[in-house]
Amino acid sequence: MTHPHWPLWDLRIRTPRLELRPVRESEMADLSELIDGGIHDPATMPFLIPFTDAPNPQRAHDSYRFWMGCWAGWSVESWRLVLAAYSDGRCVGSQDVQATDFPTLRTVTTGSWLGLPHQGHGLGREMRAAVLQLAFEGLGAQRAATEAFEDNVASRRVTESLGYHRNGSEVVRRRDGRAMVLRYVLERDDWEPRRRDDIALDGLSAEALDMFGLS
Ligand SMILES: CC(C)(COP(=O)(O)OP(=O)(O)OC[C@H]1O[C@@H](n2cnc3c(N)ncnc32)[C@H](O)[C@@H]1OP(=O)(O)O)[C@@H](O)C(=O)NCCC(=O)NCCS
Repeated sequence: MTHPHWPLWDLRIRTPRLELRPVRESEMADLSELIDGGIHDPATMPFLIPFTDAPNPQRAHDSYRFWMGCWAGWSVESWRLVLAAYSDGRCVGSQDVQATDFPTLRTVTTGSWLGLPHQGHGLGREMRAAVLQLAFEGLGAQRAATEAFEDNVASRRVTESLGYHRNGSEVVRRRDGRAMVLRYVLERDDWEPRRRDDIALDGLSAEALDMFGLS
């Protein structure tokens, strides 16, 4: 049974280790708590938008504005789906996927983070694989892109191990310094041999697909 008004909220991605679901009010509270517990060494900044540098309550308000803004700004032309990842019923992190002009360009970009206690156990790779399944199998993407700071070894390893290729770099400001961002892409042909048969997409109804501009 689909949600009567916002069918995207029925979406679930299930892997043997994780369930990913759209970020609604209770998921926002879970994710906010996780951020408060720490999602990276404060000495480093893994994010292009340094949202973890803000003190509370500003950080929490910024995060809620961001999550609610993703729903408020949703359109076929430009969308960002933020999913919360649960392992054994516990919230462990966030995985998002976004696109502009998706029905034509068939390209998504992704971003993710895990709570510190949940890092280094393969969950980062698992949730990226899950969202790639949604993009390629569920939505018919042709290309997935992502990026990471050069010194973010864990993020780069997740990306490289899933078959992405390097696609350039960029120098950006990070806090008060200069940092290198590496770009990667995964083409559909490179994803196909890695397609998993143990990841289930639930709730991707005709009504939900319509919200992506797909029939
Ligand atoms: C990036 C992140 C999502 C990766 O998830 P993860 O669950 O920690 O990573 P995994 O356990 O799946 O490990 C993936 C690979 O990275 C390696 N790795 C993990 N942590 C590492 C570290 N600190 N240093 C070096 N390698 C590391 C693993 O050994 C594995 O390598 P392999 O493919 O050779 O086996 C997670 O570490 C995180 O949330 N970091 C903080 C936020 C962040 O950086 N987000 C991404 C912004 S671009």
